Amino acid sequence: MSLSSSVVALGYVVIESAQSEAWRRFGAEVLGAAVDSDGKSLQLRLDDRPYRMIVIPSEREHLHSVGWEVRDAASLEALVSSLESAGVECERASAGEAFRRRVGDLVRLRDPSGNRLELFHSPLLANTRFVSPAGVAGFVTGDMGLGHVVMPAPNYQETTAFYEERLGFQLSDRMRLGTDEDGAGGVQLRFYHCNPRHHSLALMQAPHPAGLVHLMVEVPDLDEVGYALDRCQRGEVPISATLGRHTNDKMVSFYMKTPSGFDIEYGFGGVRLDVGCVSTSEITSVSDWGHDFSVGFRK
Ligand SMILES: [Fe+2]
Repeated sequence: MSLSSSVVALGYVVIESAQSEAWRRFGAEVLGAAVDSDGKSLQLRLDDRPYRMIVIPSEREHLHSVGWEVRDAASLEALVSSLESAGVECERASAGEAFRRRVGDLVRLRDPSGNRLELFHSPLLANTRFVSPAGVAGFVTGDMGLGHVVMPAPNYQETTAFYEERLGFQLSDRMRLGTDEDGAGGVQLRFYHCNPRHHSLALMQAPHPAGLVHLMVEVPDLDEVGYALDRCQRGEVPISATLGRHTNDKMVSFYMKTPSGFDIEYGFGGVRLDVGCVSTSEITSVSDWGHDFSVGFRK
């Protein structure tokens, strides 16, 4: 697949929530985002873009969609025409809808597990300095995008094929957890890159009640992870996993529970890959040390 018709970065996530006030507090005081509102939805800003997360009013707590960035208008056209010729339904947003998302153009579609995607190009910039209300020095974004998402993919074979063959994601590695002695059963994951970040996307062979397993945001030094841990405790935000280092991307991180029930991984020091270096190796453990997820199930 040519680069001109591939996704290049994770742009943003849109979240449906009935808990706007909880998100405003969590976003500003714990995550460290600059939170703005248009009276209906919240925009959580982490860098020079006007937002990286949008919280829209809803009666349910669920991921609405993931925004994936492509290089330019020609790339979006090439991608959409290849998706449509493969039978994927693509809905083109109006110019007004694209402008309200602060992008040049926008196309909506679903993956084979039913997850909603928005493909876009040419984001508008905020052109004012990002100032974190929690004093976070900044987030590691730029050409590597917002961070990474781990998406539920109960329809695993078709969904992995869709991201690999239709959207151009490159396999970084795989993981299988909880198998029996013959390697059967358990849960499989695939980790994908579309820029030097080890993974911008992972697909997990399981459903998730919130439609998103977790979103990872990266900060530029270890102290920022420690400060975020302190803010979680002060804000009484539940920790879903203790501090640890992942086996594959070597990220030192912890996980916190958002008001909508999915986790945010807050990390530092993820490895960078050469784009296009595909690995098929399979890792067998989530972490070198730490990341005790049992804390998330304790009362
Ligand atoms: Fe992660």
